[in-house]
Amino acid sequence: MDIQAFVDRRARLLRTMGRGIAVVPTAPERVRNRDSHYPYRHDSYFYYLSGFAEPEACVVLVAGDAPRALLFCREKDAEREVWDGFRHGPEAAREAFRFDEAFPIGSLDEKLADLLAGQPALHYSMGHDAGWDDRVVAALNRVRANVRGGTHAPAEIRDVRVELDEMRLVKDAHEIADMRRAAGISAAAHRRAMRATAPGRFEYEVEAELMHEFRRSGAQAPAYSPIVAGGANACVLHYVGNSQSLRDGDLLLIDAGCEVDSYAADITRTFPVSGKFSPAQRDVYQLVLAAQDAAIAQIRPGQPWDAPHEAAVRVLAQGMLDLRLLTGNLDGVIESGAYRRFYMHRTGHWLGMDVHDAGEYKVGDKWRPLAAGMTLTVEPGCYIRAADDVPQALWNIGIRIEDNALVTADGCEILTDAAPKSVSDIEALMALRD
Ligand code: GLY
Ligand code: MN
Ligand code: MN
Repeated sequence: MDIQAFVDRRARLLRTMGRGIAVVPTAPERVRNRDSHYPYRHDSYFYYLSGFAEPEACVVLVAGDAPRALLFCREKDAEREVWDGFRHGPEAAREAFRFDEAFPIGSLDEKLADLLAGQPALHYSMGHDAGWDDRVVAALNRVRANVRGGTHAPAEIRDVRVELDEMRLVKDAHEIADMRRAAGISAAAHRRAMRATAPGRFEYEVEAELMHEFRRSGAQAPAYSPIVAGGANACVLHYVGNSQSLRDGDLLLIDAGCEVDSYAADITRTFPVSGKFSPAQRDVYQLVLAAQDAAIAQIRPGQPWDAPHEAAVRVLAQGMLDLRLLTGNLDGVIESGAYRRFYMHRTGHWLGMDVHDAGEYKVGDKWRPLAAGMTLTVEPGCYIRAADDVPQALWNIGIRIEDNALVTADGCEILTDAAPKSVSDIEALMALRD
């Protein structure tokens, strides 16, 4: 980990803040039951500024003529370290993560009031964590209670995430390197899943192959709950039961990506359980692939965020007419939104530390123009449930194809293309199964 990148981000936020004090806490640990916790995941904003992954910590930035970056974290504790493992403690953390000062987290409440006194603005994101909101408001109120002593409390409260979202939207070289690793491991996991799929196996057995590849490659966790959806389950967009057996003749939709050093990949592939697409499956598959090609062709600097979605919708809607899923004409079914019966989500989202990453999609009332260094998913799909007015050969075909794109100077780079997606590449890989 290159600590300089984190130091640079703090310096940049301090410059953008201009004046005032920023408070950016990490995520709380969450109890699963009794004394068992969910696997810990730090807060992405906090980690983006610190590189520090321990719970119970907070970054405080003091802007102005003599800017300072402070870290509050757990103290060393020989007994707790026997049970839970290493803690840096403030002194070692200050040095390792290159903060100007570091203090025990237990002193935060008292110090925060001192730090807030006389500051014109507080940069803090209210409403995301009630516990932290209470602490910050209590500190503010302590300052307010002391105004007769000649100090003043911040008159302005700004959402620090607004500035951080803008920064997080354009990835630096370190972030792109991490995202490439997450994409590469996730693509390998999809290849492994294809080779492990066969009629009679269970969705969870294929899920286990994905997890095996993630962990053996050093990924810390899946970036989100994997979707391993055979047959009709693929038409349930957030299916995560992964409990059913796979049937010959069905498709299998897998939406899975791992998290590596805090950065996510998000890949979907859809392929036949048997290893061979039926003619009807192939028709819908080629349609979704053509929609994805059309969307990817729109990704370059200056294009509005919505351009890939619009391109995908045009291709999909025409295909739905050709397949007799819809009647009417292209402009009509787009205008009326009739295509949404079979394509009800959008074509992508920002990707980064969070699978649905930080950043506004509009600037004012206009779609944000893409810029080099932004990373996004491209994920058109088509989901056809059984219904009397739908040709029977198409029933229960649910297809999504999802890749991760990095906007470059003159177009985009697909980070996830090591996961096969042409009909011939998928069928060739699956032919190699034992
Ligand atoms: N896996 C979540 C998504 O594709 O957005
Ligand atoms: Mn996605
Ligand atoms: Mn996905």
